[in-house]
Amino acid sequence: MRVLGIETSCDETGLAVYDTERGLLAHALHSQMAMHEAYGGVVPELASRDHVRRVVPLTQRVLAEAGLELSAIDAIAFTRGPGLAGALLVGASVAHALGYALGKPVIGVHHMEGHLLSPLLAKPAPSFPFIALLVSGGHSQLIEVAGVGRYRVIGDTQDDAAGEAFDKAAKLLGLPYPGGPSLAKLAEHGRDGTASLPRPMRDSGNLDMSFSGLKTAVLTLVRRESGPDGLDPQRAADIAREFQHAVVDVLVEKAVAAMIDTGVRTLVVAGGVGANRELRARMQAHAAQTGVAVYFPDLEFCTDNGAMIALAGALRLGEARSADYRFDVRPRWDLASLTAPASRA
Ligand code: KG4
Ligand code: ZN
Repeated sequence: MRVLGIETSCDETGLAVYDTERGLLAHALHSQMAMHEAYGGVVPELASRDHVRRVVPLTQRVLAEAGLELSAIDAIAFTRGPGLAGALLVGASVAHALGYALGKPVIGVHHMEGHLLSPLLAKPAPSFPFIALLVSGGHSQLIEVAGVGRYRVIGDTQDDAAGEAFDKAAKLLGLPYPGGPSLAKLAEHGRDGTASLPRPMRDSGNLDMSFSGLKTAVLTLVRRESGPDGLDPQRAADIAREFQHAVVDVLVEKAVAAMIDTGVRTLVVAGGVGANRELRARMQAHAAQTGVAVYFPDLEFCTDNGAMIALAGALRLGEARSADYRFDVRPRWDLASLTAPASRA
């Protein structure tokens, strides 16, 4: 079965074709990063309009790359939520229009389930059960994953998500949007041990996380150290480095504690912050020391993409709907409300 995946939940238009026998056949992405940069964040109306412009040409591109006619697609998966309502509606409309025109079933995918299952695109792929550290712009969660749709949230953020913290700290340091990659780049030039930031919730005794205090600590440091010309570039790099160390320390410690608490010795890291090189290196070093298995999606599948949506759709083919093509989107949608895939009636 060949599944076309359509991701339009935020500021990336992602398309992909996933074959249940042969794996990923093609994928294509258009990032709106440059368009939103001038505004310092995603402008929802601009995002929706750009998805409208990109989605059909990208569909044509992945089909051409996969060497397939549209009629060779067996099902269409789209991101139903969570995300920006207008942006989600673009993918939902295209998915249902295609489904109706082709007489093929359509599956609405939970965006975070897509992230969570994205390490299954890699070879070798992890096997269930595993602990997922889901760290994106909107989420920082630790989830015990027993199988597709069998998720138990065991740790959550109490305020800002890890990616959000990177974005806000980057803004305070005067860096361009999106903050995560630009802060990580600046951190490479920082000196260790020259700035000091807290490790929030380190000793909380549970698996919850909190990053807003860390952002406030960055603000205090920036204010204290800025001269009439702003912050010295070397000091900005030092603070960026310490900030990244602090976030990574907390994420690694909480993920390790989750494995100890549950006895599950496989960890997958997914979501945009999973692209962070320090996080990847530290997790891998821990795995090498302790013998646990750690999986990351390939870098291109850490941030939003169509491949993870096509894959999640393929794993939920039994839920595909073709009787009618009415649809909705779910801008807010709790991952914990998902259930294991229904078998085809
Ligand atoms: O998963 P994603 O693409 O979108 C959401 O579903 O939120 O994650 C985006 C987040 C942003 O906050 C971005 O700053 C962060 O991931 N991010 C990074 C890196 N690359 C992206 N954070 C730290 N280091 C990176 N290399
Ligand atoms: Zn995402």
